[in-house]
Amino acid sequence: MAKALAGSKKAPGIKLGIIGCGNMGRALLEGLLSQKVLPRRHLLVSDVEASVSEAIQRQFKVKATDNRQLAAACQVLVVAVKPHQVGPVLEEVKECLSRKTLIFSLAAGVSTRFLERTLAPERIGVVRLMPNILVKIRQGVIAYCPGRYATGVDLLVKRIFSPLGKVIKIKESQMDTFTAISGSGPGYLFYLAELLEEIARKRGFSQQTVREIIATQFTGTGLMLAASSQPAKTLKEKVCSPGGTTLAGLAVLEQEKLSSVLEKAIQAAEKRSRQLTR
Ligand SMILES: NC(=O)c1ccc[n+]([C@@H]2O[C@H](COP(=O)([O-])OP(=O)(O)OC[C@H]3O[C@@H](n4cnc5c(N)ncnc54)[C@H](OP(=O)(O)O)[C@@H]3O)[C@@H](O)[C@H]2O)c1
Repeated sequence: MAKALAGSKKAPGIKLGIIGCGNMGRALLEGLLSQKVLPRRHLLVSDVEASVSEAIQRQFKVKATDNRQLAAACQVLVVAVKPHQVGPVLEEVKECLSRKTLIFSLAAGVSTRFLERTLAPERIGVVRLMPNILVKIRQGVIAYCPGRYATGVDLLVKRIFSPLGKVIKIKESQMDTFTAISGSGPGYLFYLAELLEEIARKRGFSQQTVREIIATQFTGTGLMLAASSQPAKTLKEKVCSPGGTTLAGLAVLEQEKLSSVLEKAIQAAEKRSRQLTR
C-alpha cells in the first residue's frame, strides 16, 4: 500500500481520512488537494462537530462523515485532534480498523508506544509526526518517527506531508528536542519580531512600515540561510564591517549572553515536552 501511494501521482484505491478539522487537519487537506496527492474523492474528513466537517465538505468537495465510518473506509488515517483527545478517538475507531490501516498522529507528546498500546492487541502501524504552525503556509518542518509495526512507510509519509513543508525522519528519542527547536521555533521568532517591532514603533515608525521591514528581513534572512552552505556564523560575520553598526549591536547581544538565554529556553521547552509525553 505504501508503495502504491508513494509511486503514483493518482494513487488509485487509497483513501485517506483526516480526523479533526482544526488548524492542522485543514492545513493538511489544503496541501493534499493543492498538490493533487490524492483525488478529491479519496479524501474523507470527520470532526466531533458535524457542522465543522460539513462546512469543509461544502468548501473542498471532499466527503464528510463520522470517525467510525471514516476509519472503516480509509487505509490511511491522520489523527489531527488535541493530544488528550487521541486516546478516546483511537478507542472509538479501533474496531473499525483493518490490520493494514496506517495511523498518523500529529499530536504533540503522544508516543508511538501509547498509540500502539491503545490499539492493542492488533499490531496496527502508527507514525508519530511533529509539525509546526508554518504548515499553514506550506513552509513547515515535519518530523516523523514510525512505530514498531509501521515498516517501509518513508515514501508514503513524504508523499503525504511534503505539500506542507520539509519532511524529516528522526528517532523518537529526539522528539523533545525537535519539538523545542522546531515545533516551538516559530513562537520564538514571532517573539523576536514582536520585540523589534516594539522598539521601532517607540522610535516613531508606523506599525505598517515596521511590519514590512521585519517580515521582509525575516523572509530574506531565511532564504539566504537556506541557499547558503556556509555556517550561520560565517553569514553573520559577513554582515559585520569593522567598527560598524551590526558589530556594535551584536557585541551587546553577546555581552548580555543571548546564547545562554536561548539555551535555557530550549531546555525549558524540552523539559515541558518530556512532561507532556505519554
Ligand atoms: N497547531 C500547531 O501549531 C501544532 C503544532 C504541532 C503539533 N500540533 C498537533 O496537532 C494536533 C491538532 O492541533 P490543531 O492546532 O489542529 O488543533 P485544533 O485546531 O483544536 O483542531 C482539532 C480539531 O479536532 C476536533 N475534535 C476534537 N475531538 C474530536 C473527536 N473526538 N473526533 C473528531 N474531531 C475532534 C476539534 O473540535 P473542538 O474544537 O470542538 O474540540 C477541532 O476541530 C494537536 O494534537 C497538536 O498537538 C499542532
